[in-house]
Amino acid sequence: MEIPHFMPINNEMSPEFITRTTCRICGATDLIPYLDLGTMPLANAIRDPNDMTPEFRAPLAVLFCPHCALSQLSVVVPPERMFSYYVYRSEISQTWCAHCVACVDEAVVEAGLKESDLVVDIGSNDGTLLSAFHQRGFRTVGVDPARNLSESASRKGSDVLCEFWSAKAAEHLVAAHGKPALITATNVLAHVDDLDDFFSGVGIALGDNGVFVVEVPYMGDLVEKSEFDTIYHEHLSYFLVAPLLTLAARHGFQASYARRIPIHGGGLRLYFRKGVAQEPVQSVRALLAFEQDAGLHLIRPYERFARQVKSIQHDLAETLRHLKTRGRRMAAYGASAKGATLLNSIGANSDLIEYIVDDTPEKQGKTAPGTGIPIVPASYLASHRPDDLVILAWNFVDEILDKTTKFSQAGGRYIVPVPALRYIE
Ligand code: TMP
Ligand code: ZN
Repeated sequence: MEIPHFMPINNEMSPEFITRTTCRICGATDLIPYLDLGTMPLANAIRDPNDMTPEFRAPLAVLFCPHCALSQLSVVVPPERMFSYYVYRSEISQTWCAHCVACVDEAVVEAGLKESDLVVDIGSNDGTLLSAFHQRGFRTVGVDPARNLSESASRKGSDVLCEFWSAKAAEHLVAAHGKPALITATNVLAHVDDLDDFFSGVGIALGDNGVFVVEVPYMGDLVEKSEFDTIYHEHLSYFLVAPLLTLAARHGFQASYARRIPIHGGGLRLYFRKGVAQEPVQSVRALLAFEQDAGLHLIRPYERFARQVKSIQHDLAETLRHLKTRGRRMAAYGASAKGATLLNSIGANSDLIEYIVDDTPEKQGKTAPGTGIPIVPASYLASHRPDDLVILAWNFVDEILDKTTKFSQAGGRYIVPVPALRYIE
């Protein structure tokens, strides 16, 4: 098993992505590359087992902006390719559903929502977050380009505007539904190349007293816990508080509250309101101080992170190969996007990992990107019992352990690969 080597970016090989050489927050051109994961397939591009066409691949490398401390990918794959048909369903995870209910409780208080208010969710996926607002009596509209998910969101009580969010989409939204009191955007900002157009849209849609809530995976957690598998082509940007404030201020937004959240390995939640620049509030100051203290405005922690990633990849590849030679049967749980980065980065295939369990109906019967490993329903764990189960969706480890007690009671062992390889007997 070989760990892929550095592949130079060469647009002549594949014209289907663009290289991005300027920082999407501050425009700087002297970006510093620090992590190269080689060429990778798209993390959610599951395939039909009979599909023999060449698989789309693009370079996966991260650059650091020494001016605003944003990390971003070196390439942008056209969003239509990744998001027009989307196989990730938020509703599959109970942990996420509980997170949404708690998020609504907090946002209702923070934004001072009244019952008839309109709530808009950008990147609404299958409508899971909006349904928690809907159940509290708010009018809810989702905006999402994935045509296959809008029906699920409608069933949960929300209208859906099937578009990528932009200034233009904001005008369509306001014309059709009026101005929202609250806009949420969870796990979508990292997907967006033109962040200025995105924020312009929020400015157009929100009333003067409106609130914009953003959740993003936090680069502070990613680096600290070596969560390198969160890096894939959908995630164009890796945010700290500092660059987000710069971006928001440019569009007339100030953060009124910010905090870290535990979901997906560690994220940030920020509340933005329209207003002129002023001293950051205490919660924001605390996070900025944390970032300064951790040196996250400098390249050094990222170089350390990159070395750690190589070491994790090496250890995991060696361990799994060793277990295989000892005759142990291995499967994985969670055909997640991060699982695609992880498995491809160690050159795994179906000889090593026999199958991946996933509860998402759209994924079952398909094969995982790059590795060709079959994706199957959870019933396989009993009918094709492995010795070891690699938890690829390690962000939901407790929920997965709860769902697979029969496997562990029968002597099965779990392997959790990130942040550091550990076994759960
Ligand atoms: P994520 O780590 O990107 O959120 O993806 C998690 C994947 O794991 C997604 O494909 C759904 C799957 N999953 C299950 O199949 N069953 C579960 O109980 C949980 C929590 C996740
Ligand atoms: Zn920058």
